[in-house]
Amino acid sequence: MSKTIAILTGGGDCPGLNAVIRGVVRTAIKQHGWRVLGIHDGFDGLLGDLKVDELTLKSVRGILQLGGTILGTSNRGNPMNYPVDVDGEIVWKDVSQQVVDNFYSTGAEALVAVGGDGTLKIAQRLSELGLPVVGVPKTIDNDLRATDVTFGYNTAVSVVTEALDRLHTTAESHQRVMVVEVMGRDAGWIALESGIAGGADVILLPEIPFDIKTICAAIQRRRDAGSRFSIVVVSEGAFFKDGHQVTQVAATDSCCGVARLGGIGQVVAHELSQCSDMEVRTVVLGHLQRGGTPTPFDRILGTRFGVKAVDLIAEGSYAHMVALRGREVISTPIIEAVGSLNLVDPNGELVRAAEKMGIMLGR
Ligand code: F6P
Repeated sequence: MSKTIAILTGGGDCPGLNAVIRGVVRTAIKQHGWRVLGIHDGFDGLLGDLKVDELTLKSVRGILQLGGTILGTSNRGNPMNYPVDVDGEIVWKDVSQQVVDNFYSTGAEALVAVGGDGTLKIAQRLSELGLPVVGVPKTIDNDLRATDVTFGYNTAVSVVTEALDRLHTTAESHQRVMVVEVMGRDAGWIALESGIAGGADVILLPEIPFDIKTICAAIQRRRDAGSRFSIVVVSEGAFFKDGHQVTQVAATDSCCGVARLGGIGQVVAHELSQCSDMEVRTVVLGHLQRGGTPTPFDRILGTRFGVKAVDLIAEGSYAHMVALRGREVISTPIIEAVGSLNLVDPNGELVRAAEKMGIMLGR
């Protein structure tokens, strides 16, 4: 039976989103003969002036290798807490029902919502209001518990690993300590895996509060043993043993009630320069980790997630999201997937392996 479905991408962008969009469009059209609508700029596209157009096979041609999202995204427009002008005063309201009504006005019957924890929570809320929604998890942070891995993460780890390879040569030439700050919010996956892959000497994770003195001592030991440089990878969410975390914008001052992390690299570099006579420099990789070409792994996972999302709509498995478990793409209820983060186990095998290799984790 002919159907119209819609897709949107919400939250921060990440490599592999276009592979999902292409997977959804091609499967919907080629397998079912359905129409697909693209909603632009996340849930913002369903509030105010509707930003919706049709996605055809032609619209998704040549996008597999592109980073970002051809639909645009937004990590501001949360319909559950949306700024509404009431008599000249901004009031924060739940406008989810308006999103549902606007969605149906497009003629679509089911929605594929691609996003991280925030977007999936909104998807859950919309499905409670009766909207047939299927979720697709994404984030470079790899912090969603429902899936073994998110697409975008592999690309971010590759970008950081390449940066570490490049920083090794310049660090060694100048006998410097290079402090490299990476993304990941409250999860240290990017720092840990790229640090191991890139041969870091020190890796600081949000899951293991660090003691600056032990890091100074480790760098000195390397020096005494004849190493002319050190590479320190710091996750943006890492914090000192006394609980001090560095933010660029506090949660209370941010647009969306979430702190903007960043700056810990500079602080760690300053502390290290106080306890060592080596030159210390900082590199903040920032959004480079999120932009650009997705790796083959992320293209394949994104494609499989897109195909599976359409399968779920075809069988009527709404309020579910796709996920990778082992080697299989499965589905799981969105409600069971949101709200609990997948963090690095401070005593897990990966952390232990790093420590057995002599990598110092700041504890
Ligand atoms: O969640 C993905 C992520 O890139 C985090 O690693 C980072 O803290 C955050 O988004 C940055 O968000 P923004 O692009 O809004 O600054």
